[in-house]
Amino acid sequence: MSNIRAGILGTGHSYPEGILTNADLEKIVETSDEWITTRTGIKQRRKAAPGEYTSQFASRASQEAIERAGIDANDLDLILCATVTPDQILPSTACLIQAQLGANKAAAMDIVAACSGFLYGLTIAEPMIRSGQIKYALVIGAELLTRYVDYTDRSTCVLFGDGAGAAILGPVEGDRGILAAKIRSDGRYEEQLYAPGGGTKGGFTAETIARGDHFFKMKGNEVFKVAVRSMSDIARQVLCEAGLKTDDIDLFIPHQANQRITEALANTLKVDLSRVYSNIAQTGNTSSASIPICLNECVESGRVKAGDNVLMASFGGGFTWGAVAMRW
Ligand code: ACO
Repeated sequence: MSNIRAGILGTGHSYPEGILTNADLEKIVETSDEWITTRTGIKQRRKAAPGEYTSQFASRASQEAIERAGIDANDLDLILCATVTPDQILPSTACLIQAQLGANKAAAMDIVAACSGFLYGLTIAEPMIRSGQIKYALVIGAELLTRYVDYTDRSTCVLFGDGAGAAILGPVEGDRGILAAKIRSDGRYEEQLYAPGGGTKGGFTAETIARGDHFFKMKGNEVFKVAVRSMSDIARQVLCEAGLKTDDIDLFIPHQANQRITEALANTLKVDLSRVYSNIAQTGNTSSASIPICLNECVESGRVKAGDNVLMASFGGGFTWGAVAMRW
């Protein structure tokens, strides 16, 4: 039996230059830096300028990941772009990235799984690489969430930010690579976190736009409870499948939704906060981009080293959730 696994060979990330601080939001809605900081841990988020679009940030993050992996865009067999904020309805953002990169032999498609999209991408590409069906996959999480934020709704507008992260997945030998991966969904929770306008059901008319049906709506309290429960359950299953205990985890990267969710999750899983990565203060919730951005920051700062056991877990609209355990 082959001992090839799928591993992450290179990572990259890209942010818009624009920064929206809590002080800026205090001028837009009735909120305060104190409320936002204590309830979410967020101090600022990135915001794309008019005219900027999702695939630009995705392609910059991807180029960095391709260079770090030491491959060429033409080596890519598959591009998966996780996004709920695509450039346009058709074609997929992944196809636009494929063209921007000049990845001439890659298949490309989007994954719509909200904040879990990047882990969905890793989980889908992993067996294709392990089995030898493909060699290199580019998995991206890219979002311009601020385009779908209602800046009159203080319960959501303080949370979300823009950015993109990318990873090259390819074959690795020895003890490295993805050890276990799992993804799940439950669409009965549709209305806990959703944007009803813009599709065939809600329509896209002057009235739906005036009503703001295209903006994200969220029942934050409900999402919070289910998020902690679902991520801890699936993380335990993945650790068990990988033959790891929580004490074996060197680095835990949860989706950056809210610092209180991160802490509740770490507490439930009994992972010391010193081993949990958080950048939410600087980025806000960037949905599918949050985990690959964190991964790249950990690579750049030396926080993750060869041989480290890394656990990632995410939860998002759908609901969708997932976890991946890997040895770096
Ligand atoms: N500033 C000041 N006050 C506010 C703000 C604000 N920005 N937002 C809400 N409030 C008020 C509310 O009106 C409420 O006031 P009331 O008590 O007078 O009615 C009070 O603060 C408490 O509101 P809650 O909603 O109960 O606050 P909570 O502690 O639950 O925090 C939050 C809200 C931050 C949204 C939290 O529930 C959360 O983070 N939930 C999870 C979000 C998440 O994980 N999303 C996941 C995926 S995102 C994706 O997939 C794209």
